[in-house]
Amino acid sequence: MANIKKFKVFRFDSAQDKKARFETYKVEWIPGQTVLDGLNYIRDNIDGSLAYRSSCREGVCGSCAMHINGKYCLACEQQLKVMPEKIIIRPLANLEIIKDLYVDMTPFWKKYKAIKPYLIGKESITGKERIQSQDERAHLDKVIDCILCASCYAACGMNALNDEYLGPAALAKVNRFYLDSRDHAKDERLAMVADEQGVFRCHTMFNCQVACPKEVDPTANIANLKRNIVSSQMSGRLSKKGV
Ligand code: SF4
Ligand code: FES
Repeated sequence: MANIKKFKVFRFDSAQDKKARFETYKVEWIPGQTVLDGLNYIRDNIDGSLAYRSSCREGVCGSCAMHINGKYCLACEQQLKVMPEKIIIRPLANLEIIKDLYVDMTPFWKKYKAIKPYLIGKESITGKERIQSQDERAHLDKVIDCILCASCYAACGMNALNDEYLGPAALAKVNRFYLDSRDHAKDERLAMVADEQGVFRCHTMFNCQVACPKEVDPTANIANLKRNIVSSQMSGRLSKKGV
């Protein structure tokens, strides 16, 4: 007899629905399959109109982040074998729903772009290779693992209250470049997030720390930026404007 799980899935089409609803599907599965395989089963065998994102199927691209049985996670990393019989799936919060589990990521990418997510070098070394020691590279372990899945953004209570707040993923990325020995824009990076829509909007709820599937720990990254901003302000290297 086939193994069956019940998938209760959030459904809403912003182009035609007035109200959201849940639909329940019986999903056949075998050991080794994931929640993403279950969604693929629904789309291929029961309801081809179900919308969601996925690509790599191995926890690398970040596109299948969603809310599954009470927590944000990657659908392709959730093994059905260890999950309860009933699986409740919702889209990422704090982003507009386009259809079902498919959200509009535009604000997330806009904030990511705003923090200059690339190495900024000295003019004199532009075009040359920037050497980094193994220790300097090891300093970036974990924070460099962010796959931009937006789980932290969805879990953040401050993002829910304020559209302008940069959010945990963008701020963790600022710290990623701040810690990088090859980056020469340390003061500029601190200045760009030293205001109430930057690190000081974070109330240290730790939701992002819990939600992150890659253990990036945005809370700790934001705390590091706060410490360095305050220390730069006390030494007079950074103004207190906007804080
Ligand atoms: Fe996803 Fe973690 Fe990066 Fe946030 S910090 S976008 S939860 S990988
Ligand atoms: Fe790429 Fe899940 S499909 S992380």
